[in-house]
Amino acid sequence: MTEVTLAVVGGGLRGLTYARRAHATGAGRVVAVAEPDPGRRAAFAAEFGIVPELALPGWKDLAAAGRVADAAVIATQDRMHTDPAVTLADLGYHILLEKPMATTEREATMIAEAAERNGIMLAVCHVLRYTPYTGLVKRLLDEGRIGRLISVQHLEPVGWWHQAHSFVRGHWRRQDTSAPMLLAKACHDVDWLVHLFGRPPARVSSFGSLSHFRAEDRPEGAADRCLDCPIEPACPYSAKRLYLGCLGDPDSEFWPLGAVTPGRTEEDVLDALRTGPYGRCVYACDNDVVDHQEVLMEFDDGGTCSFTMSAFTPMEHRRTRLFGTHGYMDGDGATLRVVDFRTGTEETLSLDETVGPSAADGHGGGDEGLTDAFLAAVASGDPSRLHTDAAESLMTHRVVWAAEQARLTGTVVTL
Ligand SMILES: NC(=O)c1ccc[n+]([C@@H]2O[C@H](COP(=O)([O-])OP(=O)(O)OC[C@H]3O[C@@H](n4cnc5c(N)ncnc54)[C@H](O)[C@@H]3O)[C@@H](O)[C@H]2O)c1
Repeated sequence: MTEVTLAVVGGGLRGLTYARRAHATGAGRVVAVAEPDPGRRAAFAAEFGIVPELALPGWKDLAAAGRVADAAVIATQDRMHTDPAVTLADLGYHILLEKPMATTEREATMIAEAAERNGIMLAVCHVLRYTPYTGLVKRLLDEGRIGRLISVQHLEPVGWWHQAHSFVRGHWRRQDTSAPMLLAKACHDVDWLVHLFGRPPARVSSFGSLSHFRAEDRPEGAADRCLDCPIEPACPYSAKRLYLGCLGDPDSEFWPLGAVTPGRTEEDVLDALRTGPYGRCVYACDNDVVDHQEVLMEFDDGGTCSFTMSAFTPMEHRRTRLFGTHGYMDGDGATLRVVDFRTGTEETLSLDETVGPSAADGHGGGDEGLTDAFLAAVASGDPSRLHTDAAESLMTHRVVWAAEQARLTGTVVTL
């Protein structure tokens, strides 16, 4: 297969993940990076052998260089997707764009229009669509193994420490600097559920709030930082326990520790916790995104879906129950139990290649599956290698915005 050349915008954790996969398989070669952090930029350029002229401080410098690669990976933070995506699409790059596409419907529409106008392939990083597990569930549904899909019960167990890391102390803690949690985190789930049903819902409602991780939940005597806190040893959200516990494990050192500090010694971690955002008490942060949310969807044929996202779980694969007219499926991201009402038989299918759910594990194989599919699509010029295009991603994002509107207004929103 032709090797695809890549320019990476944002040499952070996600940019690295896709670049490493492309290099590991030999399907892609990173020839340029745009990254303002000098340390990250230098490390990225060294790892992928990027020439100094194409190790650039920002996406505008990359755009000014014209089209220097077949495709661009855009892995900047949530509010910095639209301008590089539209500009690089106009330069003719195929684009692998991190989710959420954008934080407003207007901007996401601009991105989808730019993809259409330029005839480029633009894949939003809805990695869940690309796991072997999803492939199995979708294939069985499409084959009619459980008849017509009537309803779905879906849980996203965010995980207590993951919530604290990303949505209380980390980048995605505030709506005004990132996005509502349903968009920042669970746009994956909404996209996945729409993929399973094969169409968007007709109506949505939603409930949810920030019910913990607030000043009023702060235990008596707690300090503003874990390192100064007398009750830290008994706190489930201890930053000291979480981040010191990552040392020595390469996966956990990449994530979540990689977001906290580039250092890998105990002193590096303690320094970061002493001064940086990740050492703050979870009850003394400036967070406002929800810690639990429900979304209810109704489809045009009366099919229904209930989706729960919760911080108050272990961090695990999503759990899903699918109720059909002729059968039932019950999956946990690794195994799928299928009950056939016609025969009364039950079968449990396991996926050998399944890995863990977190970013450190490649999201159940989704990171690898997406990168491989994108590179194959660009190399062959065949968009059908991708499981979704910009227009479909825009549609599933619209469901998220409708659900968020329903939550905020206490209404049922018709799409
Ligand atoms: N698909 C998934 O499952 C998944 C998982 C985690 C995060 N994400 C998304 O990926 C995106 C990146 O997340 P991350 O964890 O890698 O963040 P990160 O902060 O590690 O990386 C973002 C990088 O962009 C760089 N940047 C800032 N301004 C820039 C500019 N002008 N030009 C080029 N680069 C610039 C930053 O310096 C930083 O290194 C976010 O939108 C996030 O929501 C997706």
